[in-house]
Amino acid sequence: MSEQWWRNAAIYQVYPRSFADGNGDGIGDLAGVRAKLPYLAELGVDAIWFNPWYPSPMADGGYDVADYRDVDPVFGTLQDAEKLIAEAGEHGIRTIVDIVPNHVSDRHPWFRAALAAAPGSPERELFHFREGRGEHGELPPNNWKSEFGGCPWTRIDDGQWYLHLFAAAQPDLNWDHPRVRREHEEILRFWFDRGAAGVRIDSAGLLAKDAALPDLVPGAHPHPYLDRDDLHDIYRSWRAIADSYEHPRVLIGEIWVPDTERFARYLRPDEMHTAFNFDFLARPWDAGQLRESIDATLAAHAPVGAPATWVLCNHDVTRTVTRYGRADTRFAFDAKAFGTPTDLALGLRRARAAALLTLALPGSLYLYQGEELGLPEVEDLPLDRLQDPMHFRSGGTDPGRDGCRVPLPWTGPEQPFGFSPDGAKEPWLPQPADWAHLTVEAQSGDPASMLTLYREGIRIRRELRGGFGWLPDAPEGVLAFRRGDVRCLVNLSASPLPLDGEVLLASGPLPDGLLPTDTAVWLR
Ligand code: GLC
Ligand code: CA
Repeated sequence: MSEQWWRNAAIYQVYPRSFADGNGDGIGDLAGVRAKLPYLAELGVDAIWFNPWYPSPMADGGYDVADYRDVDPVFGTLQDAEKLIAEAGEHGIRTIVDIVPNHVSDRHPWFRAALAAAPGSPERELFHFREGRGEHGELPPNNWKSEFGGCPWTRIDDGQWYLHLFAAAQPDLNWDHPRVRREHEEILRFWFDRGAAGVRIDSAGLLAKDAALPDLVPGAHPHPYLDRDDLHDIYRSWRAIADSYEHPRVLIGEIWVPDTERFARYLRPDEMHTAFNFDFLARPWDAGQLRESIDATLAAHAPVGAPATWVLCNHDVTRTVTRYGRADTRFAFDAKAFGTPTDLALGLRRARAAALLTLALPGSLYLYQGEELGLPEVEDLPLDRLQDPMHFRSGGTDPGRDGCRVPLPWTGPEQPFGFSPDGAKEPWLPQPADWAHLTVEAQSGDPASMLTLYREGIRIRRELRGGFGWLPDAPEGVLAFRRGDVRCLVNLSASPLPLDGEVLLASGPLPDGLLPTDTAVWLR
């Protein structure tokens, strides 16, 4: 396998709590993943990115890390992680670990020590503790907003406030402190030494803050905590660590920075290798919009020599089958609401077409567990089972992200559909009763299933190494491009499109040799 494998890899995202439960407690675990490695090998993916598996109180699905050098007992042990990395390697699959540098859990020893220490102590300097405003310090230190809604400041008993851009259980680290930097460099080495092929860097655009913590003034530059220039130094030092290994490790950034030129700065040759392309993910099902995003993405990446990434969904966003079945097919966190009318048959047809579109684009591809099964967002979870802080901090108006985190269906006619062994506890989030037709077992032999489409698509994608170019004269509403000698056509217009050439793969039936609306095809 080439050292630059990340330039065109297909990377599968495992959300460990919901992938497969090996020990029957109703929660996915590393033993469950190990047992399913043959499934991932057959799917043809090059790497797995694991959402956090560290010891955590799970106040934010594991993005509240209490110990960066261990595995939560719910998932297994550090030895299990080492075995998993080694066994995945035997299947030709690399492992990417999720690194969470912006914040720790409020149970992390550093934060406990900071709470126990006095205002102004060295322990508190590792975080952002401040006095409040107002006559008695009763108002938060500034006007910032939490990414999860509400105020990002929490007041403690001695009157000081601490900053948390996410939930209160996730205090932000002070990245101006050398100890914070050193600690994270050691954490990187810890996982690289255990065979991790790379890291996915959580909330990578948020670490650096203006030390004065000034009020946020709309439109003012630089922003006090997003996309600050100091970040580049941090990632340069990480790149040097990644490059110091015999098989260089890979840095993948989670960067929600809308300006494509600013975004590409993180991908300069001595910084990160790749970063998630959220612009593409957020676009509606519209040919002009998607084409614009593809062009902007390729144009932004070219000058820094980095490969583009293509992502349709992940553990934070509405599943594609559901999103594309709505009147508004964009993704936006603040547009999420209960009770949005959805046509799942339409959504599935479009999600299948979107799969072929995405698989044909040049760069690396991310596939979120269950996407290959065409799972819809689960929108009727009982309210008392919801866990996501995004739901609670919105005052209950945002449904939150639990609906895309429901345990996978593997086999059999009823819940838990093989997610857990027989006689196990109920899964941590309930699966819909009507998922029998979506199991891996049900889809495996079926030529018309989403799973078959992804298996075939990933297999053929390996040969799509040629250059990318738009085809001239495509009708309005049709995306038409070539990769070497393969053409990809996606019909988002209202009229069927005549086809010529040998069909390699199609996202749906092609009656009378025509490409129907919301259908994609690969031709040679
Ligand atoms: C990232 C993660 C998300 C998490 C947040 C805070 O956006 O993808 O799941 O809630 O960071 O760590
Ligand atoms: Ca388990």
